Amino acid sequence: MRRFSTILGFSAAVYAAGCGGGSASRGGDCAECDVPNGRSSLEAFLDRAEHRGFAKESGPHPSAGPHFGDVVAYVSPKLEESLAGGNTTHPVGAGAVKELFGRGGGTEPIGYTVYVKVRQGAGAESYYWYERFDGNQFANGVAEGVCVGCHSGGEDEVVLSPYPLE
Ligand code: HEC
Repeated sequence: MRRFSTILGFSAAVYAAGCGGGSASRGGDCAECDVPNGRSSLEAFLDRAEHRGFAKESGPHPSAGPHFGDVVAYVSPKLEESLAGGNTTHPVGAGAVKELFGRGGGTEPIGYTVYVKVRQGAGAESYYWYERFDGNQFANGVAEGVCVGCHSGGEDEVVLSPYPLE
């Protein structure tokens, strides 16, 4: 896990310069997105716990990926509809949020990892990626290399959690 943290931290420094905030209603430049695609508007959205209105997993479970201990995934309405329809490419605006609880067994998230599709096309490069855990930011931009590698090549475009959500 330490190795993952180092890789993620390095990449965040490389990519941080290329990120966009913005003033569109949902943040960033993707007005039709279910989840904002810029750090400040996204953090405000998370603070308001708006993602808790999304379809979600039944409860925290250990991440099968490098996502810091226990996690709960939420999928936005556009992503939920697309997955339910059996699509393998999702519409612009589809997104997912994962609450990160770490390994301490706490009940409040100490971080979030997020993606949302911000432009037409297939694949992880058409998504905005964000991750923040325990005060450190590891991703904040479109086509973040640190996230795209693992989240590419699956049959559901970028989605790695089992669907229907468990
Ligand atoms: C080493 C592989 C790996 C990397 C790197 C990775 N992920 Fe994941 N991610 C996973 C796996 C596996 C899951 C499935 C759920 C779980 O077990 O955590 C997942 C799940 C997610 C989910 C929940 C929705 C879904 O598709 O299941 C989000 C959101 C997410 N990751 C965002 C990110 C972001 C943002 C980054 C970059 C900072 C990133 N991931 C980097 C492996 C990875």
